Amino acid sequence: MGSIVLRDLSKTYGGGAIAAVKSVNLEIGDGEFVVFVGPSGCGKSTLLRMIAGLESISGGTVEINGKVVNEVASRNRDIAMVFQNYALYPTMTVRQNIAFALELRKFPQAAIDERVNEAARILDLKDLLDRKPGQLSGGQRQRVAMGRAIVRHPQAFLLDEPLSNLDAKLRVQLRAELGRLHQRLGVTTIHVTHDQVEAMTLGSRVAVFSRGTLQQYDTPQKLYDAPKNLFVAGFIGSPAMNFLEGALGGNADAVQIGAATIRLGAPAAAAQSGRVVVGVRPEHLGWRPWEEVPSGVLTGTVDLVETIEPEAYVTIALDDPSARVRQADEAVSSGTPNGASAVPAAQRVQMRVPARAAPALGQKVALTPDPERIRLFDATGGAAL
Ligand SMILES: Nc1ncnc2c1ncn2[C@@H]1O[C@H](COP(=O)(O)OP(=O)(O)OP(=O)(O)O)[C@@H](O)[C@H]1O
Ligand SMILES: [Mg+2]
Repeated sequence: MGSIVLRDLSKTYGGGAIAAVKSVNLEIGDGEFVVFVGPSGCGKSTLLRMIAGLESISGGTVEINGKVVNEVASRNRDIAMVFQNYALYPTMTVRQNIAFALELRKFPQAAIDERVNEAARILDLKDLLDRKPGQLSGGQRQRVAMGRAIVRHPQAFLLDEPLSNLDAKLRVQLRAELGRLHQRLGVTTIHVTHDQVEAMTLGSRVAVFSRGTLQQYDTPQKLYDAPKNLFVAGFIGSPAMNFLEGALGGNADAVQIGAATIRLGAPAAAAQSGRVVVGVRPEHLGWRPWEEVPSGVLTGTVDLVETIEPEAYVTIALDDPSARVRQADEAVSSGTPNGASAVPAAQRVQMRVPARAAPALGQKVALTPDPERIRLFDATGGAAL
């Protein structure tokens, strides 16, 4: 029914001066829930609008159910879009808002009533049908916007940041509702967000974009375990992965970071230059009191401890001035709370440990990355090794 395939899909503005979407290839299975995620301006909305037919296509094709729809008008694509601002009609009641698209399509009144009541039941809007949008909370408005999409029984839902106007608690609640709704209706859904937590919890597969280019399209687990490049590695996961500049040893079974040697769980593929970026997630970085360990390990001083029970985010200033920490591209990951540290970013790493097992402020520690969870990237191109 509702499969969507994008082939070499591109969009330029300003006579080719601005490339908003660059040759994107992507297949979305019938009934799948896929999330498009990436920083502001990476082309998410442009992609969605091209799929919906609200934006002309500069190159490539959009296929819905195996048919190229480039030249098919938006209203004939059988796709329902929900916008960030909901775009409800303020003078109409909830019932009229939900029924509007069906009335435009000249549905018989009995069918309209049936579908509106069905949507109202699914979305728990029955008691609000006679209100105007101005008399609703943000979350209720969001449900009305979903209701307008549901009654059309479309081939696919395209949701452009439908939760971003809501407060944190409501976001979490409605995020769960969206997931349940999808399970119930089984309709192909593309959900756009810049929030990686939303992406990882909702998507059966997640497409990560940066600057108009698809970086990786995978399950949330694959994105977390095996990011294809530095951008994805830095974008997925919170706090963000630590990136240390290193050199691959002759046997490729250890990396040199400054004066320290870090053993790897498995030998790495050789980097072109021997220079690598060593990626360690904060949750895969352990520590020991410094006195207990021999030389050749990575050591540092605890600079900041932020306790968010039951965990602590610990910022460590590295002792070795030749050990360099690289910043994630555009830095991206949301919610990395180490802005309060006074240590230069090029010299600090973050660790995420149970609050009861956190080192004390000012303590000297030896860092013990889990060798199995270390990820290596080519220092020049950023590709995973
Ligand atoms: N009409 C336009 N004319 C020129 N450039 C545009 C136009 N619309 C979008 N762009 C540019 O295209 C790029 C992609 O925009 P888009 O709205 O798709 O980003 P986005 O990923 O949805 O961002 P956000 O998370 O902020 O909504 C941006 O650099 C934007 O400035
Ligand atoms: Mg957008």
